[in-house]
Amino acid sequence: MSKRNFILAIITVGLMTGCTSTKKITSSSTTASLKDVYKNDFLIGAALSSQQIEEKEPNAAELVPKEFNAITPENIMKAEIIHPEWDRYNFDLADKIAAYGKKYNMKVNGHTLIWHSQLPAFVRNMKDADSVRQFFTDHITTVASRYDGKITSWDVVNEALEEDGSMRKSIFLTKLGDDYVTEAFRLAQKAAPNTELFYNDYNIEQPKKRAGAISIIKKIQAAGVRIDGVGIQGHWHVGRVPFKDIEESILEYSALGIKVAFTELDIEVLPRNFQGADISQRVASNPELNPYTNGLPDSVQQQLAMDYENLFKLFLKHKDKIDRVTFWGVNDGQSWLNGWPVRGRTNYPLLFDRQFKPKPAYYRVIGLKTKPSEDRKPF
Ligand code: G3I
Repeated sequence: MSKRNFILAIITVGLMTGCTSTKKITSSSTTASLKDVYKNDFLIGAALSSQQIEEKEPNAAELVPKEFNAITPENIMKAEIIHPEWDRYNFDLADKIAAYGKKYNMKVNGHTLIWHSQLPAFVRNMKDADSVRQFFTDHITTVASRYDGKITSWDVVNEALEEDGSMRKSIFLTKLGDDYVTEAFRLAQKAAPNTELFYNDYNIEQPKKRAGAISIIKKIQAAGVRIDGVGIQGHWHVGRVPFKDIEESILEYSALGIKVAFTELDIEVLPRNFQGADISQRVASNPELNPYTNGLPDSVQQQLAMDYENLFKLFLKHKDKIDRVTFWGVNDGQSWLNGWPVRGRTNYPLLFDRQFKPKPAYYRVIGLKTKPSEDRKPF
């Protein structure tokens, strides 16, 4: 073989090897990415576990900066972790997520300042209103000011509503009264003048709870306090995504002059007879409630893909009103839905599977931006 032919042969083998590897369906070999194809529409985010924030999961360490331009800590900014004792804060992991955002040029959403759940023991046991107020003020002021200018937004108050739209009977409502949500935003506005402030909740696309959220937002605005957006969490069920309620919500919330974000998106595929994400609701384990331990049947996989495609079609229709769409986790193996409301299930709610490979739903979501509609596979 001449030297020229030898070089050509090497190049040909190299190209063929390259072609084979691009055909392998792994996250790293897909050319398009979620954040790139949606870059002119809205941010695409993911909630990160502490392992992922510390880049200790090699697959996630590679996939997250490629696919997402926004991140939310799944747990580590919650009061229980960031403020474990009266006079002690633990900013180690929270500082790391701020640094992660800076390193990869991603928007960081702080989750969350005031939430009735995952409170430290010293707060859960408080009896007098003064102590609750002192915790409330110190906590918001200390945490929000530390990250002002380092993160993009805060879920200032999380899940303050009951399903009927009335205020949740939390420790904050009972000790501080009805105005505590407005007060939280007032404190956050003072401590974090450069950070966007959101109210975040689940099921607030549903009419009754939506009315409750609208009244909270109007109350904050009427007090002359800043609120920049509302976070609709988006914990939905395969085949039952409430598209009409979601569209009405996008229109009604944005009519209040605020941004709309979908902050905790996942689509549950396992049996459950109630909606939402109230973590105090638990159901006993039972094999019938865990039917897909050996893999997701194709019919469900296709329905999941269709639900995600239709959801992103709706998001694109209203992209001028939507700021960010964040998935609650990176891949199926990490999802909280493997452990709630039934422990130890095998769930499949996200766009990446347990091996971090993109699922059919991922290709449907990407395809909305990259393929003309007539080229998309019919369901
Ligand atoms: O870190 C401890 C560990 O030290 C301990 O050994 C272990 C034993 O159970 O628990 C670990 O804490 C768990 C924590 O996640 C971190 O993994 C808690 O038990 C577990 O309850 C907690 O669940 C989180 C849940 O919020 C509880 O608040 C989920 O990961 C998280 O995805 C979920 O996120 C919430 C949003 O913040 C608000 N909206 C609803 C959403 C889903 O519930």
